[in-house]
Amino acid sequence: MHVHVNAATSADGKLSTRRREQVHISGEEDFARVDRLRAEHDAVAVGVGTVLADDPSLVRFDSERRAAVGKSGVPARVVADSRARTPPDAAILAGGAPTYVLVSERAPRERRERLEAAGAALVVAGEERVDLDGAFAALADDGIAEVMVEGGGELIYSLFAAGLVDELTVFVGPVVVGGRDAPTLADGEGFVDPAAFPALDLVGVERLGEGVVLRWQA
Ligand SMILES: NC(=O)c1ccc[n+]([C@@H]2O[C@H](COP(=O)([O-])OP(=O)(O)OC[C@H]3O[C@@H](n4cnc5c(N)ncnc54)[C@H](OP(=O)(O)O)[C@@H]3O)[C@@H](O)[C@H]2O)c1
Repeated sequence: MHVHVNAATSADGKLSTRRREQVHISGEEDFARVDRLRAEHDAVAVGVGTVLADDPSLVRFDSERRAAVGKSGVPARVVADSRARTPPDAAILAGGAPTYVLVSERAPRERRERLEAAGAALVVAGEERVDLDGAFAALADDGIAEVMVEGGGELIYSLFAAGLVDELTVFVGPVVVGGRDAPTLADGEGFVDPAAFPALDLVGVERLGEGVVLRWQA
């Protein structure tokens, strides 16, 4: 599985405000870039924190770009959601594209059944929290070879901690959000030993409107 993390941060590295409300850090040019990137992937993934905060549908993508890269159909959607907290009426379950909800064995059966009734395909991996390695292997078995992860900070940190990130693209916008409790690009527990910091190779720097797009390979 090839994993590409893409997110937009403020100049001070925040994904949103301390109230975890979605903020527009980027603009139309970056939205178009994200739509092209979605088109290049088999699936687009977020953590349940993002679903609960923003209720994204993740259905938009650039269909011309999808045809140009030789992919058919629409990008599937994926939610990492250990306890099946995704509301059955969440936008990520509507709109036609298939949606996988990755849960752990801790997810209550009743909530799993409600999500399945709402059309989700459930993948069970891990005892307490979703075992991302195992869950992604199950997605790969279903033909998902390339996944784009759009956030948030908890999920992105776990992916780095598990050594699952292949590419990282960040749009850094011209605003400062601040707040010690505002989500950043990688939250979780954080690494302590510098030897454990995931090392990145800078492969692209591009000005986009009033911001900059940074691309790394992990
Ligand atoms: N600027 C951007 O590009 C951007 C993009 C996306 C989101 N955001 C913002 O980010 C914020 C949400 O981020 P967040 O960090 O709170 O939430 P998140 O990363 O979207 O979701 C985190 C949740 O995912 C679940 N999860 C399941 N398996 C996991 C695993 N192995 N590792 C980590 N998490 C796992 C956990 O809940 P369970 O333990 O219950 O499973 C965890 O609390 C919102 O404010 C949103 O607006 C910004």
